Amino acid sequence: MSNLRLGIIGFGNMGSAHAAAIHGGQVEGMELSAVCDTAEVRLDICRQHYPDVRTLSDPSQLLESPDIDCVLIATPHRFHASLALEALRHHKHVLSEKPMDVRLSEAKKTAAAAKQSHLVYGIMFNQRTSPIFQRAREIVQKGELGTLKRSVWLITNWYRTQHYYDSGDWRATWGGEGGGVLLNQAPHNLDLWQWICGMPSHVRAFCDIARYHRIEVEDDATILTRYPSGATGMFVTSTGEYPGTNRLEISGTLGKIVLENGKLRHWKLLKPEEQVRYTSDESMARIPCDYSEQYFEEPESGHLQILRNFTAAILRGEPLLAPGVEGVQELTISNAAYLSAWTGNAEISLPMDTAKFDALLSEKIQNSNFRPSTSHSRLSQEYSERWQVNW
Ligand SMILES: NC(=O)c1ccc[n+]([C@@H]2O[C@H](COP(=O)([O-])OP(=O)(O)OC[C@H]3O[C@@H](n4cnc5c(N)ncnc54)[C@H](O)[C@@H]3O)[C@@H](O)[C@H]2O)c1
Repeated sequence: MSNLRLGIIGFGNMGSAHAAAIHGGQVEGMELSAVCDTAEVRLDICRQHYPDVRTLSDPSQLLESPDIDCVLIATPHRFHASLALEALRHHKHVLSEKPMDVRLSEAKKTAAAAKQSHLVYGIMFNQRTSPIFQRAREIVQKGELGTLKRSVWLITNWYRTQHYYDSGDWRATWGGEGGGVLLNQAPHNLDLWQWICGMPSHVRAFCDIARYHRIEVEDDATILTRYPSGATGMFVTSTGEYPGTNRLEISGTLGKIVLENGKLRHWKLLKPEEQVRYTSDESMARIPCDYSEQYFEEPESGHLQILRNFTAAILRGEPLLAPGVEGVQELTISNAAYLSAWTGNAEISLPMDTAKFDALLSEKIQNSNFRPSTSHSRLSQEYSERWQVNW
C-alpha cells in the first residue's frame, strides 16, 4: 500500500517537530507532502530544511489539493475546529493539535461533521499514551475503586517564564489564544481527568488573571466539580509555581489510588467502607486493605505514538486512542470554568450555555491587546521534553 500523503498546517514549534518526525521516517506509512503556514518566514525555513516538500501559504489551497490524503493542524487554537471542518468537507483525514478549539460551540460543529463523515479525526492528546494513566483508567472503569467519592488533581508543574509568553504574539491574549493555562497547558490533564473519572455535571472555577506574568489571561486556576454519582472533584493548575506538583488522587468506596512521580499507589479495601461505617462497633475503625505500588516508565514519545495510531487508523481501521470528537469533553470543562469565573464564580451546570460563553469571550476579544504576530518560533527538530508527562 502506498504511503499516506500528509499536509501540515502551521509550521511553528509543534508543526515543525511533527514535520521532523514524519520527514525523518519515524511514522511508517506516512510521508510529508506539503506544509502550509501563513507566515512566509516559516515557509522559508521549511524550504531550507525540506526542499522536497511543497509549501503553501493558504490553508484552503492545501485542503483542496487532490494529492493530500490527511492533514495535521498545528496552528494557534482558534483555527483548529474550523480548519478541521474544512478538511473533512474536502474528504481529508484530520489530526488536530489540542485543544480542539477555543469555543465549545465551534468544536461541536466539527464533532458533528466528523461523526457523519467516515473519515478519521484524531486529536493530539499524547499523554493518553502514558501507561500510568491507562492503568488508572482501567482501575476506575473496572470498578476496582467502587463508586467514586472524590478526585483531586494538583497539576502545578506547568511552569512558564515571561520569555515563553513573549515568544509569540498570539500567546496569552484573549484575541490570539482565547485563554491561558486552562486552554494551553492543562487540556492534556483535563482530558485525562475526564477520560479516567468521567464528565462532571457541575463546574465552578476561580481563574486568576496575570497573577504571575504580564499577560491578559489566567496563569492560575482552581476548578471545583460535582458528578452525577455525587462524587466531587478539584483541579488546580498554574504556570507560576516552582517547583510544581503533579499529583492525582482518586478515592472511592473500595479504596484509593495516588499517581505521583511516575508511581501508582493503590489501597484496596478488603471490606467496602460503607459496610464498616454502619456495622463497626468502634468509633474510628481501621479498615484492612491491600497496598501495592507500581512504577511506570514513560513511552519514548507520546506524540509519535499518536501519529502512528492515526496512520494505523486510516490504513488498517485500528481504533483511535484519542478520537478528535472526544476533544469536546475537556473543552466543555475549560469553557465552563471560564464562564463560571466570568459570572462571579457561579456554578455552571452542564450542558452549558455556549452562546453566553461566546458573547462574553467576544467582549474580551474586543478589548484584547492582541496584535497579529511579528515574532516567530524556532525550528523544532525533535519533541521537547516539556511536552511529555512531567512529574
Ligand atoms: N501536544 C502538545 O504537546 C503540544 C505542545 C505544544 C503546542 N501544542 C499546540 O500546537 C499548536 C501550535 O502551538 P505552537 O507552540 O507550535 O505555536 P507557534 O506560534 O510556534 O506556531 C503556530 C504556527 O501557525 C502559523 N499560523 C497561524 N495561523 C495560521 C493559519 N490560519 N494557517 C496556517 N498557519 C497559521 C503561525 O505562523 C505559526 O508558524 C497550539 O494549538 C498548541 O496548543 C501542542
